[in-house]
Amino acid sequence: MSPAAPGADGPLVLGIETSCDETGVGLVRGGTLLADALASSVEEHARFGGVVPEVASRAHLEAFLPTLDRACAEAGVRLDDVDAVAVTSGPGLAGALVVGVSAAKALALGLGVPLYGVNHLAAHVAVDSLQNGPLPDVALALLVSGGHSSLLRVDDVTADIDVLGQTLDDAAGEAFDKVARVLGLPFPGGPHVDRAARDGDPAAIRFPRGLTGAQATGRHGRDHTDDFSFSGLKTAVARWVERARDAGRDVPVADVAASFQEAVVDVLSAKAVAACRREGVSHLVLGGGVAANSRLRALVTERAAAGGVAVRIPRPALCTDNGAMVAALGSLLVQAGREPSGLDLPTDPAMTVGRVLA
Ligand code: KG4
Ligand code: ZN
Repeated sequence: MSPAAPGADGPLVLGIETSCDETGVGLVRGGTLLADALASSVEEHARFGGVVPEVASRAHLEAFLPTLDRACAEAGVRLDDVDAVAVTSGPGLAGALVVGVSAAKALALGLGVPLYGVNHLAAHVAVDSLQNGPLPDVALALLVSGGHSSLLRVDDVTADIDVLGQTLDDAAGEAFDKVARVLGLPFPGGPHVDRAARDGDPAAIRFPRGLTGAQATGRHGRDHTDDFSFSGLKTAVARWVERARDAGRDVPVADVAASFQEAVVDVLSAKAVAACRREGVSHLVLGGGVAANSRLRALVTERAAAGGVAVRIPRPALCTDNGAMVAALGSLLVQAGREPSGLDLPTDPAMTVGRVLA
């Protein structure tokens, strides 16, 4: 076990995130965030218009130790103060996950502390506890990132997460990134679309709202009330822009960005709040990179209030990938007395959200 006794405020947990292009190292003691150090390789991927897995893996390797040092300095702790190590073991890019998991194993072995291999998606939910206090007994979570768009029922983030619905095709963040590309905005597109949309009219163009109305309610077989689909929307935006260009018109970037964004956040917010009401759940938690979107935050807040649902949204830096979210989930797992993972912990690039701990 730990060479250092857990402090009065609970165990010190180190969290490591390397599932995509951000190298994150967070330190959490009890429910308190002490440090959240981040290094990103996003600029190395920008010219390819998407994350290049091998480039990401090498960048993690180079960034890991400096990021670890920064986290310890920021928190004012030494490595041998750490009581447990948590690491994202899936889902994510295979090579990128291996870098974080190998580092976590080396640290856990060297320090003689337990190791927890955690689910990246559950960590996106758990991070909310660092800002908004202990998670409610039952909550729905709207998890929207570059790789996932899911509506989850979270009875206990350390053990019990059910998928109510998810995207049938593109993730919400993926749609933002692809539309940004069509509009000539840099990668990753989400923040750029968000910014461009501020000067645009969200009602300028009526883009389709996928899987709403009759489409959602099983007319074509399965019920898709809680599912999402963004690929038709992405194609509709691309066609609209193409037609404007073919006709020799200037593309009104701000109006297209605002109208596209409105279509995404309209569906996300309406479905999330409706699911809370139907399930009789009074708390909604947002997480994932797209939860950093200013219009999504505003519309969910407005609709949740109208529907009598309390909404919890972490600050934008905690929504996008980071190490603090992994440390937050690790800390909850330690406090819940969950069995740690062994030192033979594998990576699981396709880990499903039903599995919180590897
Ligand atoms: O959670 P995240 O950092 O990484 C994954 O696990 O995928 O999410 C990244 C995604 C990208 O698609 C990015 O464009 C999107 O989140 N994103 C945003 C915003 N900030 C990041 N999308 C819309 N508006 C934003 N402000
Ligand atoms: Zn993520």
